[in-house]
Amino acid sequence: MSISQIARSIKPSPTLLLNEKAAILRQKGDPVIHLGGGEPKSKAPMDAIIAAASHLNSGDIRYTPADGIPDLKKAIIRYTEENYSRKFAPENIMVSSGAKQAIMVALQAILNPQEEVIFPAPYWVSYPDMVRLCQGIPVPVLPEDGTFYPRIEDIEQRIGSYTKAIIINSPNNPTGAIYSPEFIDDVVKLCEKRDIYLIMDDIYHRLVFDNKKSVNVYDHVKELSENSKVILINGVSKQYAMTGFRIGWAVANKKLIEVMSNIQGHQTSGPSVVLQKAAVGALNGIQSGIESLRMTLENNRNVMIDQLKSFDGVHITIPDGTFYCFADFSAYEKDSLKLSNLLVDKVQVLTVPGIAFGLDGYLRLSYCGGLKDITEGIERMKWALDLNSPNELYIGDRKLVRDWV
Ligand SMILES: Cc1ncc(COP(=O)(O)O)c(C=O)c1O
Repeated sequence: MSISQIARSIKPSPTLLLNEKAAILRQKGDPVIHLGGGEPKSKAPMDAIIAAASHLNSGDIRYTPADGIPDLKKAIIRYTEENYSRKFAPENIMVSSGAKQAIMVALQAILNPQEEVIFPAPYWVSYPDMVRLCQGIPVPVLPEDGTFYPRIEDIEQRIGSYTKAIIINSPNNPTGAIYSPEFIDDVVKLCEKRDIYLIMDDIYHRLVFDNKKSVNVYDHVKELSENSKVILINGVSKQYAMTGFRIGWAVANKKLIEVMSNIQGHQTSGPSVVLQKAAVGALNGIQSGIESLRMTLENNRNVMIDQLKSFDGVHITIPDGTFYCFADFSAYEKDSLKLSNLLVDKVQVLTVPGIAFGLDGYLRLSYCGGLKDITEGIERMKWALDLNSPNELYIGDRKLVRDWV
């Protein structure tokens, strides 16, 4: 089959593949535990459902402006003012089909072939392929000190004449790390000095723990003018548990938003009006769901961390936010894909191999599911890997015998 060079350079999303695998195993009746997921299990806010249903009932389901309906832009402006203390105009906002598309369209709007985009590693799985889809070159930067907290020196070293943008995701997927105000300040200054775009992927910015706060990029921008090269990405997927609604947005200078909206207009004509109405409902409705989700996730994190600590040889960095823990399993197996496959095959626990995020030897474990899944999932993993555990394990009435280590 004849397909384009770009298409050939793109790998399927490992996390979406994992969801499919989980669904297939469940359908077969396997007692699978999914610790690889990327979405909260709570229900979407009632205000979102009511708003979408009432628009659907009107039967008036039409095209919208490609950059989003005015009442959603208004809600996003208020959201950004409340959370970032900055007031933007509707022309500074583009609504998209998820934060994912907002990032993708931003990259399409700024990248020429062979231009480079830097991002700290471990990184969200989609960044490299998104850059490749724009014919750009992804430049992941692994902190040299072996931590999950990138240093400005590491990033600065990789900047060259082809560097067009830096993507920062904090709180970070997969590590849960919140980058420090000093680091964000340095990155903003670096981008301003070198005239580079800064894409701030803030999709997890309110899912933070231990009274920590995610850094507001605008607190570090020298002068927020229409020449600003900061592109702020946000959305309803994670904090409102609305992943399936596919609504995210970008906040940037008016010229860039105009260009991005032109691109999106030719791609999708913008997200569905029904789903945009749902996002209006979520943003304008009762907000207590976010805090209760945050608290649940913090508790889940604590349970997962406690259990992982009992795992001899597993090294963990306590996540500051998100719903992921990126744990070092290299003492058991350096090849994370092999390890992840072993865990599915032997004990039906799904995890995402660290290599998908640019760091082998690690597994990403999600704590967005129920507590029972977390405890039983880690228990099964421990049994599968730890030679000191008994030779047999019961999953329901199935008896497993460890015969692989
Ligand atoms: C870091 C990061 N950015 C963006 C997204 C995409 O969010 P959305 O579902 O709104 O497209 C995700 C989803 O997993 C993510 O982890």
